[in-house]
Amino acid sequence: MVDVDPSLRRELESLNRFLRVKPLYFDFDEGVFVWLDTRLIPFKEVYRRTADYRRVARAIVDMEIRGAPAIGVAAAYGLALAAAEAASRGGDGFMEAVSEARRRIESTRPTAYNLFWATASVYNAVAEAYRKSGLDAAVRAGLEEATRIYVEDVKGNVEIGRVGSRLLESGDTVLTHCNTGALATAGFGTALGVIRYAWMEGKDISVVTTETRPVLQGARLNVWELRKEGIPFKLIVDSAAGLVMSRGMVSKAIVGADRIVSTGHTANKIGTYMVALAARRHGVPFYVAAPASTFQLDAGPEAIVIEERSPDEVRGVISEAGYVRITLGDVEAYNPSFDVTPPDLITAFITDRGVIEPPFDVNIKRALEG
Ligand code: MRU
Repeated sequence: MVDVDPSLRRELESLNRFLRVKPLYFDFDEGVFVWLDTRLIPFKEVYRRTADYRRVARAIVDMEIRGAPAIGVAAAYGLALAAAEAASRGGDGFMEAVSEARRRIESTRPTAYNLFWATASVYNAVAEAYRKSGLDAAVRAGLEEATRIYVEDVKGNVEIGRVGSRLLESGDTVLTHCNTGALATAGFGTALGVIRYAWMEGKDISVVTTETRPVLQGARLNVWELRKEGIPFKLIVDSAAGLVMSRGMVSKAIVGADRIVSTGHTANKIGTYMVALAARRHGVPFYVAAPASTFQLDAGPEAIVIEERSPDEVRGVISEAGYVRITLGDVEAYNPSFDVTPPDLITAFITDRGVIEPPFDVNIKRALEG
């Protein structure tokens, strides 16, 4: 397996200080991509490894790897592995094989913009290096671009945390929905990264996390991360969000995003829209934390594709004993995995390029373009 530029390797190692949990990474010694299987959290911590991009794609479909930035990083390394595999068969049909792998990786999950941004970046790096310098350079360029995406994600998360922490003060109780922590990114987290950063700065804050049905990212993943960090929290069912706000039990809400378009319309885990509505009704500031790679600047809300997942996720839950049915197996269930929060319900975006306030249709482009 090829290596990457030594300065990139050093930068990679310097990030370890931010990574209490390493949810995914590339093992340069073995030439394999490694990830923590989030399906098994909080009951078991099992790392999986592969050099086969098809296995990376399956891990994304099955949500062993999930969360928009983590999906982007996994997709990037997946395509880099595909380029290495195609190169090992010789030059004939190299770019066709890389394109085929790109299509396969892009067909895993439709909503997270980071996925498409990452595959385009790696594909372009591979294609350019191949055209200019041939196969070995193309393989190296793919791995370097994926590693850059990884490095930028961790650095961007820490910056989101730094910028967002200024919006929090001791005494705040922050409601969050879905998991946006280390387990949803290359490490550290976005919305949960803001909470983590504020806590690391010594702010006395606490968290209310929704359980986040159907896949229970809150009950399984947030509980695991918040426990590890020692941040006090309460777990609520999703439908308690309105009540806790009406009782003044939370002072701010921060969520992540899968895709934010130029108008500020934000796709995020199903239920986010209801949290935003309740927050507006009760005067609770509602923030969306996300890196630049989640923003699709050249599109409006019509570009957002809402993934529909298996009805079995609604008909059952993941438990310590595995999948358990909670209703009759033949019940007709509808399972949209994301919803769209309109910009007028969003107080501000917390990004790695600073806090973006309304009017979003002007300020998003101003902050992120170029
Ligand atoms: O279906 P998932 O678990 O991939 O959905 C994840 C979310 O909706 C997150 O809030 C979003 O990806 C941001 S993660 C930093």
